[in-house]
Amino acid sequence: ALISLRQLLDHAAEHDYGVPAFNVNNMEQVHAIMQAAQATGSPVILQASAGARQYAGEAYLRHLVLAAIETHPDLPVVLHQDHGASPAVCVQAIRSGFSSVMMDGSLREDAKTPADHDYNLHVTAEVCRIAHAVGVSVEGELGCLGSLETGEAGEEDGVGAAGRLRRDQLLTDPAEARGFVAATGVDALAIAIGTSHGAYKFSRRPDGEILAIDRIAEIHAAVPDTHLVMHGASSVPQEWLAIIREHGGELRETYGVPVEEIVRGIRHGVRKVNIDTDIRLAMSGAMRQALATSRAEFDPRKALAAATQAASALCRERFEAFGCAGMA
Ligand code: G3H
Ligand code: 13P
Ligand code: NA
Ligand code: ZN
Repeated sequence: ALISLRQLLDHAAEHDYGVPAFNVNNMEQVHAIMQAAQATGSPVILQASAGARQYAGEAYLRHLVLAAIETHPDLPVVLHQDHGASPAVCVQAIRSGFSSVMMDGSLREDAKTPADHDYNLHVTAEVCRIAHAVGVSVEGELGCLGSLETGEAGEEDGVGAAGRLRRDQLLTDPAEARGFVAATGVDALAIAIGTSHGAYKFSRRPDGEILAIDRIAEIHAAVPDTHLVMHGASSVPQEWLAIIREHGGELRETYGVPVEEIVRGIRHGVRKVNIDTDIRLAMSGAMRQALATSRAEFDPRKALAAATQAASALCRERFEAFGCAGMA
């Protein structure tokens, strides 16, 4: 059944687990996530970016999720708009049947330039008024995602700030979070702690210098009733990087957020863990491998099934590691 993000994350807070929020764009990704959730008895957050709706087409995306809910009637599912760049995008998502929206007012409507605090407050409060009137949850964002190593947003797909950011922009301030939550009424808050979107997050295995997991506890103490969200939470598995490179892929040396650091984050108060890149890596790696090993094959379902299986195994690992298994 479709439930709101608030309903799901209240349960997660009560039972001390975190929920992976996987990005979806097509049927194979929806299949992979739902299979893993069914196998582990986990609640599900399917999130779609504005780009995903554009890629699949609004009606296709909506019906994919309706099909998932019809196929798995016993699993709670949240359908969440990821990184809404304006109130208009959030309203479109609500009309499309989403049960949760993110108003990302940390950036201007171009989704690149850091926005000032007043703009963020204003648009986020506006979306909360509209969404809450129809039972839809709202995620806001305070602070800019980006690398504490370089000050770069690290994005590669149009989401994220352009140019270099200062350290104070790259770490969410607990006192500011308290004011933001009080003024907007958000159900969930995305925080900046050194993670960034995409495959190139860290040039080395992250330590406390470049990944501020301890900051989560301070923010959680300041806003105990608001659910914290870790964006840029892909782990960038070295195994998938190796498989991609073995089959002609050109990915540089890079490191993601280790699963054990995410688990530590969940212990400090993170409830929603956004993952897109890991599924992209697993699927493209599996497709490269399948196409290279079965060279006479031309039925695309073979490579796509391998991709689905790889993504599903990864989702299963995250559901289990985050304490989500058995919570549906
Ligand atoms: O946060 C960004 C997600 O990875 C979505 O990326 O805009 O390419 O769909 P996208
Ligand atoms: P990754 O690029 O680390 O998967 O982050 C995804 C994300 O934060 C989507 O909002
Ligand atoms: Na989001
Ligand atoms: Zn994000």
